[in-house]
Amino acid sequence: MSSLDYCSLIEEAAAARKFSYSPYSHFRVGAALLCSDGTVYTGCNIENQAYGPTNCAERTAIFKAVSEGKRDFRAIAIVGGKDAPVWCYPCGVCRQVMAEFCDPEDFRVICAVSEEEYRVFTLRELLPEVFRLQPDQDVTGR
Ligand code: THU
Repeated sequence: MSSLDYCSLIEEAAAARKFSYSPYSHFRVGAALLCSDGTVYTGCNIENQAYGPTNCAERTAIFKAVSEGKRDFRAIAIVGGKDAPVWCYPCGVCRQVMAEFCDPEDFRVICAVSEEEYRVFTLRELLPEVFRLQPDQDVTGR
């Protein structure tokens, strides 16, 4: 992926962040998930007053995509913060969900504070030891 690709994905994550429903934390997160076929699914965090049902932006985007038949993903961009974006890294639950569908070496996680300032990780870097029902399971679990 080129830096131009990263920039447009960050732009889409920042746009999705505007839809964040976060009246409890006031921490607004947007995510944009790039599928292997070039389509992009966006998501925002959706909070709940019972707290537990809260869904992160990353999982919103991934579940939207999977629920429409997509299973091959190349990258996800994440933008989050209370006011201006701050460094925001995916939580452990979202990392495990990414590991269900994404290749640990090829999938890129782009954590951005702006289109110019971002960090790119492989999924393996963020989740070196993934939970598997069977330890010798294929990396993508599919
Ligand atoms: N949040 C995300 O959307 N993604 C993450 O990876 C971490 C946290 C949301 C959940 C909650 O609505 C708010 O940020 C504060 O935890």
